Amino acid sequence: MKQISDLALNLKGSIIREMHTAAAGMTDVLNFTVGEPDFVTPRPIIERAFQSLNEGKTFYSQNRGILLLRKAIAEYHTNNPSAPLNADPNTEILITIGATEALQLALLACINPGDEVIALTPCWPNYLNMIKVAGGIPVCVPGYEENGFSPNPEDIEAAITNKTKMIMINSPSNPTGCVIPKETIAQIAAIIEKYDLFAITDEVYRTIVFDNQEAASLTVYPEIKDNLIYINSFSKMFAMTGWRVGYTIANELLIDRMTKLHQNFANSIFVPAQEACITALEECIPDTVKMQESYEKRRNIIYSGINDIKGLSCEKPGGAFYVFVNLSEFGMGSKEFCLKILDEIKTVTVPGIGFGPSTEKLNLDHYVRISYATSEENINEFLNRLDGFSNKFFSK
Ligand SMILES: Cc1ncc(COP(=O)(O)O)c(C=O)c1O
Repeated sequence: MKQISDLALNLKGSIIREMHTAAAGMTDVLNFTVGEPDFVTPRPIIERAFQSLNEGKTFYSQNRGILLLRKAIAEYHTNNPSAPLNADPNTEILITIGATEALQLALLACINPGDEVIALTPCWPNYLNMIKVAGGIPVCVPGYEENGFSPNPEDIEAAITNKTKMIMINSPSNPTGCVIPKETIAQIAAIIEKYDLFAITDEVYRTIVFDNQEAASLTVYPEIKDNLIYINSFSKMFAMTGWRVGYTIANELLIDRMTKLHQNFANSIFVPAQEACITALEECIPDTVKMQESYEKRRNIIYSGINDIKGLSCEKPGGAFYVFVNLSEFGMGSKEFCLKILDEIKTVTVPGIGFGPSTEKLNLDHYVRISYATSEENINEFLNRLDGFSNKFFSK
């Protein structure tokens, strides 16, 4: 057999999936690895998919996605003061296989081999792979724990070279739950304008923000409208991860080129899922509010619980459903810690080393990501087990 491609050979698998697999087959394991809502998709959305199938909607749709869904998305954003986008549903919206495909298409549409892309770490591990798939070079700019993992705009500016083509923003963030403050978003917008960079704003957690705050968005800066690729998805917002529907909004040229790429990746998205997403936007916004309230209660439990456990501490996450916990007092690496708690207290979490490279000032090996999109009962049991583990560890 000839050698497979360098790209395929060198791609790293996700550490999130690796830990998930490590726990497969074990019984009584509490799983805090995968970032997906534990709620079942709201009933009207499911009913609409059945209806669509019963009506025989089993064909390809337009490559861009069905117009009625694009119109519903356009309307959602026109009426949404926190992510205002006046998108033309005919030319400026593309429906994709989740945000995942939208991210990859956006990178492929903007990046030439050798171009640099700034990723704000710790970040969703897929970002770094996606940049490489597009031929780009990831340039990681860390955010520090003392700032709630929010990036420092001066560090971003210092990382820009004549090869920098794009920056990727994700707020609220996976894996830290950081909601980048409005002033920082404003400074990032100014940098994007000054250096004429492309920017992806990945807002898949935008409806999951706590303490009566809203996530600031790059979409409020008209001066960078043409540089900006907005990405969102139905996955986290409506508890629809398995349906695989996302979307992207950008200028006509970018959407046209991304649609050409999408023709080769996916052709189009399952029509009953697209129609179900129309119902999601039209009828199920109140469900997203209920889910947000539930995540906030869980955030409060996990935040105070973790900080009460000897040797562990965390910043208060402002959104999403992750907490990035500092375990440095245990004096062991993050993977060793995760494997130890899997073995000893049957609890599976994700080592910090999976979320980007460590630097002198940000050692990701000192952290573990916990996805708390699970019941309060599971969270309380987890905290009990962790407390027992820590007491035993420090009493030795
Ligand atoms: C930051 C971020 N962006 C995008 C995605 C992908 O979401 P989707 O299910 O819409 O593909 C995830 C999933 O975990 C994520 O954490």
